[in-house]
Amino acid sequence: MTTLSELQVPRLGECRFDSPLGKYVAGRRTNEHYVDEDDRVLFDDTVELLRARQLPLDELPTFEPGGPRRRIFFEPGATRVGIVTCGGLCPGLNDVIRGLVLELHAHYAVDDVVGFRHGFAGLVPGLAPAPVALTPDTVATINEQGGTILGSSRGAQDPEVMADCLVDLGIDILFVIGGDGSMRGAAGLADVLLSRGLDVAVVGIPKTIDNDIPFIGQSFGFQTAYTTAAQAIQAARVEAQSAMNGVGLVRVMGRHSGFIACYASLSVHHADFVLVPEVPFALEGPGGFLACLHRAVIENGCAVVVVAEGAGQDFLYAEGSDPSGNPALGDIGRHLRRAITDHFAAAGTGLTLKYIDPGYTIRSVPASAHDSVYCVRLAQAAVHAGMAGRTKLVVGRRHNRFIHVPIAQAVSYRNQVAPDGDLWLSVLESTAQPAEMR
Ligand code: F6P
Repeated sequence: MTTLSELQVPRLGECRFDSPLGKYVAGRRTNEHYVDEDDRVLFDDTVELLRARQLPLDELPTFEPGGPRRRIFFEPGATRVGIVTCGGLCPGLNDVIRGLVLELHAHYAVDDVVGFRHGFAGLVPGLAPAPVALTPDTVATINEQGGTILGSSRGAQDPEVMADCLVDLGIDILFVIGGDGSMRGAAGLADVLLSRGLDVAVVGIPKTIDNDIPFIGQSFGFQTAYTTAAQAIQAARVEAQSAMNGVGLVRVMGRHSGFIACYASLSVHHADFVLVPEVPFALEGPGGFLACLHRAVIENGCAVVVVAEGAGQDFLYAEGSDPSGNPALGDIGRHLRRAITDHFAAAGTGLTLKYIDPGYTIRSVPASAHDSVYCVRLAQAAVHAGMAGRTKLVVGRRHNRFIHVPIAQAVSYRNQVAPDGDLWLSVLESTAQPAEMR
């Protein structure tokens, strides 16, 4: 069970400077649209969950709110900032970079911003091209492009070497935009900096199209990702409906968490089967997936199947791992394509199967307007946190409030689709899929 002490965010020291944003927040108090910096945001959001803790009010687990402070740690105009993007692509990376640069420039008079190239490799001399200067002009329209103008890479680097690099360049705040592996790297780097007694803040902005970071309601880019995936499901439905005994099979990303599969399917309300890593299923047998699919095609003339890449891994074999340390996955999409084809052939039923894998298309597109708004606001929250001397944290949004989450907590487990939760129930309600395929 999460405790109050686990949710405390480290601070570099006393906030000695008046914030240039102080005038905006001077008289503000907590209300339904704003959380005062002295207030805390509740971890739980129901009476029953709160009651079950049996704790006095000031011992309940709570988060530090995000947002501008009245006093800050770093001197406006005299602060040097670095930005790095790590791991796989995600819609909105450029929006976050741009949001950071513009917020630093416009509100904290920070014009000395460098972008490290290609992930943590950019903080290791000789491994990547030299850092580049980021100005309001150079980032002016980057939000219109997918990807990251800084480039990215997977994999950890030596935190001592990265710390040396930050010291050599005189960086005061490093913003790390990355997933769980990158956040572990950021935490390791923050530890080295703290242990050396250096006033250098490391602030994370969590990035994952899989939406698998816990404690925060939704990660940026996820909405764009499932909107793009939905177009593939739409296409699969058109193909399946137009064929005799048509099956549209769509494989989407989602290594351990099937949120893209669930949201994309719900958004078009077209999928007959949704297969996610969190809900095991049998392939064979009268109650298995193949028999259920066969029945659906006989009854309705066609069917659409959406499968997350991490589903059904117990049918597959894969070895090795990627540079981030993620175990390799077997290809469930191709496996299902073969299994469905064989099953229909064995039953003597005709089949027209169209297989669509929108994989990298999903994450390389520019952010939707919804995600762009979220990216800008996350970037602003990250700048406020960094300028206030918070370190070893990620910014996020929970219960519609911006919060600071210690990195240790943000990587302590994975956000997944709960088989007994309301999202999965919605998926079951919107498909022809039985609750169990065993
Ligand atoms: O981590 C996010 C993710 O989208 C996973 O769902 C997927 O397995 C992975 O990225 C693929 O990334 P890459 O092919 O770049 O290693």
